[in-house]
Amino acid sequence: MSNDKIIISPSILSADFTELGRDVRAVEDAGADWIHVDVMDGHFVPNISIGVPVVKSLKKTAKVPLDVHLMIENPEKYIGAFAKAGADIITFHYEAAKDNVDGIIDLIRSFDLKVGISIKPKTNQDVLIPYLNKVNMVLVMTVEPGFGGQEFMGYCAQKIPYIRAKAPESLIVQVDGGINDKTAKICKGLGANSLVAGSYIYGSDDIKSAIESLR
Ligand code: DX5
Ligand code: ZN
Repeated sequence: MSNDKIIISPSILSADFTELGRDVRAVEDAGADWIHVDVMDGHFVPNISIGVPVVKSLKKTAKVPLDVHLMIENPEKYIGAFAKAGADIITFHYEAAKDNVDGIIDLIRSFDLKVGISIKPKTNQDVLIPYLNKVNMVLVMTVEPGFGGQEFMGYCAQKIPYIRAKAPESLIVQVDGGINDKTAKICKGLGANSLVAGSYIYGSDDIKSAIESLR
């Protein structure tokens, strides 16, 4: 897989929320392909972040697709609101979908959006097999979801080749958590073609070089 096909999705969880428009423009100008929006509800994960009104504001200013990562319980209750607010890709967690994975996939599709499904570190990749032909993207978490700035868990990335081998070629395999220039290389080598990075990009003095180093 050639590196120019790698989709870089900076996570605004590490941006300055008082300067969100500026921080979105900064990564767009530096070549970001998508903007990763981490939505946390304080139930599915032990942290609360941002929600629908912020996505609505982002939509007015962002030039690239909004990649919305729902770390919330009962995602089916909120998908319509995020779709209307301007999400372009909606990723939900397998663990939050209970026995309604197909229903949630269909719901996201009904808004004509790209569908992503994510698994936490301790979830086995086998659970994804029935859905690999139905979604556009699998998001492999390489940290426990909830916080930026955590250390990359290498064993999670080992799920990627298994998923790749069983998925259609068009499937996007995204990794999220602890991604920097070194861990990006590992993930790309294993078959990932989309990288989320928050603290590495926003913590860098030179955002453009940081994004280029991930590619
Ligand atoms: C974690 C979030 C990530 C987070 C990544 O729950 O899903 O998107 O912002 O942050 P870094 O890149 O700092 O690990
Ligand atoms: Zn995320």
